[in-house]
Order: sequence, then C-alpha cells, then structure tokens
Amino acid sequence: MSALPAAIDSRGAIPRHVAIVMDGNGRWAKKRFMPRFFGHKAGVDALVRTVLSCADRGVEYVTVFAFSSENWKRPTEEVSGLMGLVLVAVAKYLGKLADKGVKIKIIGDRGQVSDKLRQAWEQAESSTAHNTRITLSVAFNYGGRWDIVQACRHAIADGVPPEQLDEAALNKYMALSHAPDPDLFIRTGGEVRISNFLLWQAAYSELFFSDCLWPEFGDAELDAALAEYARRDRRFGGVDTARSVAVQT
Ligand code: FPP
Repeated sequence: MSALPAAIDSRGAIPRHVAIVMDGNGRWAKKRFMPRFFGHKAGVDALVRTVLSCADRGVEYVTVFAFSSENWKRPTEEVSGLMGLVLVAVAKYLGKLADKGVKIKIIGDRGQVSDKLRQAWEQAESSTAHNTRITLSVAFNYGGRWDIVQACRHAIADGVPPEQLDEAALNKYMALSHAPDPDLFIRTGGEVRISNFLLWQAAYSELFFSDCLWPEFGDAELDAALAEYARRDRRFGGVDTARSVAVQT
C-alpha cells in the first residue's frame, strides 16, 4: 500500500473519483528534441502509473481525457499516431491492468473511429468487465457538449416525457452514468481551463491545476493534488455545517 502524507490519512478525504486532463505531452517531447508522438507514448506510461497509484490510495474511479472531439483538428500524422498508440497501449498494458483489478470503460463517440480501434476498445472492456478494484474510463473522441447532446437524443428516442426529464433522469443517459460525479478534477500542463471535458459531471468537482507536464506526473504530484483536495471545504452550494455550528456556539 502507499505511504500517504499524514494530512490525507488523518482526514480520510480520499476522492472517490478523479478526472484528469493529461496535458503537456507535446511540450515534454519538444524539450527533448523529440516528435510529439514520443510525448504521447510517455503519456500512456504516466497514465498506467497514475491509475495504479490511485488504486493504491483508495480512489475508485479515474477518468482521463485521451482524445477530444476537437483533437481531429491536429495534423493528420499526429491523429493517426494517437490512434495507433491506442492499439499499441492495449497490446502492451491490457494484461497488466486486468491483473491489477482495473475495469476499463471507454466513453465517447465510437462512430468515427476505425473498426480496429473499436475492436480494441471492446476487448479492453470485455476482458476487464469483472474487475472491481478501480474503474478507468478513457474519454476518446469525447466532448462535454457532445455528451449532453447525445444524452438528450437518447432520452428523446426512449420516449422520456419532457416533464420526467430531470437531472437524475438525464444523468442515466450521460456517458459516465456508471460512475459518481468526479470529486477532483486535475489538469496538468499549466493551462487553467476545462476544455470541454465532463461539463455536466464536473459541476461541483474540486479543480486542481498543475504546471507539471503529463509524462512527468508521478506519485509526488498525485499526493500533492490529494492533499490539496483534503484541505478543500466542499459545500455543493450550501453552507459548511461544521462552521455554522461553531459560529452559533
Ligand atoms: C495533450 O497533450 C494530450 C493529448 C491530446 C493526448 C493524451 C493522450 C494520451 C496520454 C495517450 C492516451 C492513450 C490511451 C491508450 C488511453 P498535448 O499534445 O496537447 O501537449 P502540449 O499542450 O504540450 O502540446
């Protein structure tokens, strides 16, 4: 098990669900005079490391932004490199993740990806479906706005009457309906924005931005994010009960 900073252990405030925008692969590669693909490849290693570290710390769900609906605008070479990387990553890491108790789910629009890629996703999902230690959801060809639109379309197609379409009803159609909302939303790479990731689900997530480039993200950065999360006062739009009581007495 992990050696956790005391602040995390004593408060017991481990997030159930951590969402991550894995930014900075390109810059990491550039610093090494290497092509961007080299950074994405190192990004996969960082992803596997981080999921296993999260599992060690008691996190139950990790959701990562691997390819956004907007990433098609990147140079063709980089897009096809990322697609190929998925196949390589599945071949290299699926056995290890499966053995370590990781359940894999893919969220996003599968319509535009190749048959080969779809088959790799299906293999990753079916061969880990029985696992219960931690769920890794990989957002691929995903956008938060796409997710809201596809959920509305499916609800309409199912004949849900407008007066019954409340937040809980729509949530059942969202891509992450298998997980609770993310408690902690981490973005590496120094940019301070959400970039159309989990717009619906991150409504009350605690945001943590790190200058660390994704391939360099390790246990020290993860524990810093978890320690910061443990210090946060989550009110979900209400008041802090502990504090109000203290004020009254
Ligand atoms: C952002 O860095 C990163 C991405 C667009 C891709 C992230 C993908 C991976 C880590 C691989 C995922 C693969 C699997 C199998 C899940 P950037 O390229 O925008 O970096 P930059 O901001 O430094 O240019």
